[in-house]
Amino acid sequence: MMDSSELMQKAREAALAAYAPYSKFRVGAALLMSDGSVITGVNIENRSYGLSNCAERTAFFTALTMGKRDVSAIAVASPDAWEPLPPCGACRQVISEFCSPQTPIYYDDGRGGYINSSVEELYPVNSLMDMMNR
Ligand code: THU
Repeated sequence: MMDSSELMQKAREAALAAYAPYSKFRVGAALLMSDGSVITGVNIENRSYGLSNCAERTAFFTALTMGKRDVSAIAVASPDAWEPLPPCGACRQVISEFCSPQTPIYYDDGRGGYINSSVEELYPVNSLMDMMNR
């Protein structure tokens, strides 16, 4: 079974495939699925800047396309980060659609390590609604 630092390593490696010629800021995300597999994603930018897609959403859309929805943990990393790199607001919304409030989110601290967070910590109100609906 993969631990958090191994999942972070997968995210860091994935980031090397990012398409980020405009920001030059490469990001990778790695999703640990309930079946033990890991699905990665990268940020994909566009000359029309607003169309850029974050690594996290790329990973989720890839997983869903592969018929997999059951995410056990999420890791986000960048070799270009100099400060902590939590998922953006749009990604938090997408993550909350598919993950339980307790799902761990590990994100780069920009200093070679990572921060251990969760869906409910980063997106509390949607998580609260999910908990009440369960
Ligand atoms: N980015 C991600 O892919 N994930 C994050 O968590 C933060 C930001 C991307 C978006 C854009 O391509 C680049 O990083 C600079 O913001």
